[in-house]
Amino acid sequence: MDKNSIVIPDWEFLTHEDILQLLRSEDKNVLEPLWQQADEVRKRFVGEEVHLRGLIEVSNICTEQCAYCGIRVKNPHIKRYRMTLEEILESVRMAQRFGYGSLVLQAGESAAVMPTDWVTEVIKEIRKISDQAITLSLGERPENDWQAYRDWFSAGANRYLIRFETSNPELFQRLHPGHPGLERRLFALKKLREIGFEIGSGVMIGVPGQTWDDLANDIELFRTLELDMIGVGPFLPHPETPLGREFHENPERRIVPNNEEMTLKTVALTRLVCPKANIPATTALACIDRSMGHRNGLARGANVIMPNVTPEKYRQLYEIYPSKASTAEAAEIFDKILKEKILSIGRKIGKGRGNSMNKK
Ligand code: 5AD
Repeated sequence: MDKNSIVIPDWEFLTHEDILQLLRSEDKNVLEPLWQQADEVRKRFVGEEVHLRGLIEVSNICTEQCAYCGIRVKNPHIKRYRMTLEEILESVRMAQRFGYGSLVLQAGESAAVMPTDWVTEVIKEIRKISDQAITLSLGERPENDWQAYRDWFSAGANRYLIRFETSNPELFQRLHPGHPGLERRLFALKKLREIGFEIGSGVMIGVPGQTWDDLANDIELFRTLELDMIGVGPFLPHPETPLGREFHENPERRIVPNNEEMTLKTVALTRLVCPKANIPATTALACIDRSMGHRNGLARGANVIMPNVTPEKYRQLYEIYPSKASTAEAAEIFDKILKEKILSIGRKIGKGRGNSMNKK
């Protein structure tokens, strides 16, 4: 084949084989057109605005044992917390001062520490002072407790994020010991959509044991699920987790690299298969390239950033992966630098909630 020929077909027609080939390619002549198409498709379908979502890490208490996650129940080395209602409202006010159109309430999974009624109350109190979109990222409720999701939707929450982490059921099981399985995770997404939430999901890139085919299938599953939001980031090995240890002890289990270029290829391909989705340049991406990570993500398909507005005393305790907290300067400084970065690459600061374009 002519070295300069462009192998990337029009985005509507990307097949599994095309996705695989692009994921594996390190050829500039192949990747340049991918970056370009992703940027064009982003511009055409979701425009120049970058929507900012204020992330509030409500609690790091978790009953699960996800093999990759630093706040898993079996990490005894962290102090556990749950924010008070007043602290949460303070973070909401901060996000409002910065003009963020939406909020994300994220926490470890624990029905005991995050009782349905308490969360409902928090949502109602936020609604009294804010018309920002409210996104929940609180994991799965036990025993198909769909009523909890319904209550939260009725109280004024609008969106729900749960990553499926991998489309390979066996790998999913290894990542989530004790979980009933990938099918249930996908069913939860379906239920959340039926209830009326915009739904978001995503995966990690470069988890030990993840194959190229797995990652290509992940991207195709984004398309099948018609997601409103899709977050992808590199796997970052946490030393206090089984998967973090496996990463270092069994290098032969590393197949897909967990680096910036792989993440950017995944972001770009995600944009091509889901042109209307809201796609963040994630914190994990910014973590592996502190100076350019966010801007590179925005240039290759992303249109959202989620600045952290959690009180500083809690941030260091919400270490789902190493060095996460240290990426986040004080919220005011981060906000100022971020907005300068967005404007410097010719993009606009998003206005309003930044709702999904899927329904339009
Ligand atoms: N490396 C990268 N991402 C991680 N997450 C959790 N632990 C890690 C890690 N070690 C991601 C998961 C989860 C999201 C909130 O953070 O994908 O869904």
